[in-house]
Parts: sequence; structure tokens; C-alpha cells
Amino acid sequence: MNNFDVTIGLVGAGDLPEARHFYVECGYGGGVDESDKVIAAHDADGSMIALVRLCSHERFTVLRGMQVRRRFQRRGVGARLLRHCLTFLENTTAFCLPYRYLIPFYGTAGFVLAETSRLPAFLRDRLALYSSSGLETVAMERESRASAISQ
Ligand SMILES: CC(C)(COP(=O)(O)OP(=O)(O)OC[C@H]1O[C@@H](n2cnc3c(N)ncnc32)[C@H](O)[C@@H]1OP(=O)(O)O)[C@@H](O)C(=O)NCCC(=O)NCCS
Repeated sequence: MNNFDVTIGLVGAGDLPEARHFYVECGYGGGVDESDKVIAAHDADGSMIALVRLCSHERFTVLRGMQVRRRFQRRGVGARLLRHCLTFLENTTAFCLPYRYLIPFYGTAGFVLAETSRLPAFLRDRLALYSSSGLETVAMERESRASAISQ
């Protein structure tokens, strides 16, 4: 079931409209910023089946908008997309605010639960907003390799 052709790569500027459309279809309301690195998975027919955004800030990166098209879920696509992101996360501290039940999923990529005090203010605010909307989300962090080595 998991053994099917998937191509993973960065979405170029020309394909951003398709990425935005994909997010709308998935019901993800965060959109895409011009400054994001957007990584997509395509199936053998060239159809977009999953997306994730890496949003760069001055000293860290926020992983957002991880979405796998429903009929492709639980077939290893999300895990492969997440692994691909690691290429871009080696030299940056990364954060994400996933659903609590996805802690093990992000844990496979080296994300660990983060104290709220470790979060940049805008992410603390975003987490509080999610909580007040009834979403069971948590803060996770992945250290850059550089800071892990220097400890
Ligand atoms: C969550 C999501 C990105 C995971 O991608 P996926 O391709 O479906 O997941 P994978 O097949 O790669 O899963 C790998 C492992 O992660 C864990 N996992 C994935 N989805 C999970 C879920 N909904 N609940 C609990 N664990 C989950 C499991 O351990 C899974 O292994 P298993 O299927 O052998 O049990 C995808 O299901 C999705 O887009 N969901 C809807 C949107 C969403 O919730 N995005 C995440 C926002 S934080």
C-alpha cells in the first residue's frame, strides 16, 4: 500500500498558485507566503498529493501546513515529506505547533516538546489562539545541528 511512486521537491514560484489551490481543497486556511519554502509530494501522474511550508524567520524556521490529500493519508507520504524537510533544517532551530496526537509523527524527525517559554512571542500567541479555539495543539522544537554539536 505504501509502495507507490512519490516525487518530493521544492515548489517553484510558477507552481505557487497550484499549491494555494491544493491548500484550499484540503481546508487549510494558512495559505502560502512568497517567502516560504514550499515542499510538495507528487504521485506518478504528477498530481500534487501533499504539501508543507517552511517559514523562515531571523533565527529559526516554522514548519506549517503539513497536509496530505485525504485518500493518500496513512500511506507514508507525510513521513517522507517530513524527512525531506530535514535537508532544510540542519542549520536552523525549527518549531511546529502540531496536534497532540501527532507528537510521535514529528518525533521521528527529531522534534521534541518545547517549553512555551522557548517559543518566539508570535508562536506563543498562535498556540494560545489554537488552545482558545479548542484545538489540542502542542509546541515542538528541533535543534539545529550546529547548536546540538556546540553543547
Ligand atoms: C497528519 C498527516 C500529515 C500525516 O501524514 P500521513 O501521510 O497521513 O502519515 P504517514 O502515513 O506518513 O504516518 C506515519 C506515522 O505517523 C503517525 N500518524 C500519522 N497520522 C496520524 C494520525 N492521524 N494519528 C496518529 N498518528 C498518526 C503514525 O505513527 C503513522 O504510522 P502508522 O500509519 O504506521 O501508524 C496527514 O494525515 C494529514 O495531512 N492529515 C490532515 C491534516 C493534518 O492534520 N495535518 C497536520 C497538522 S499538525
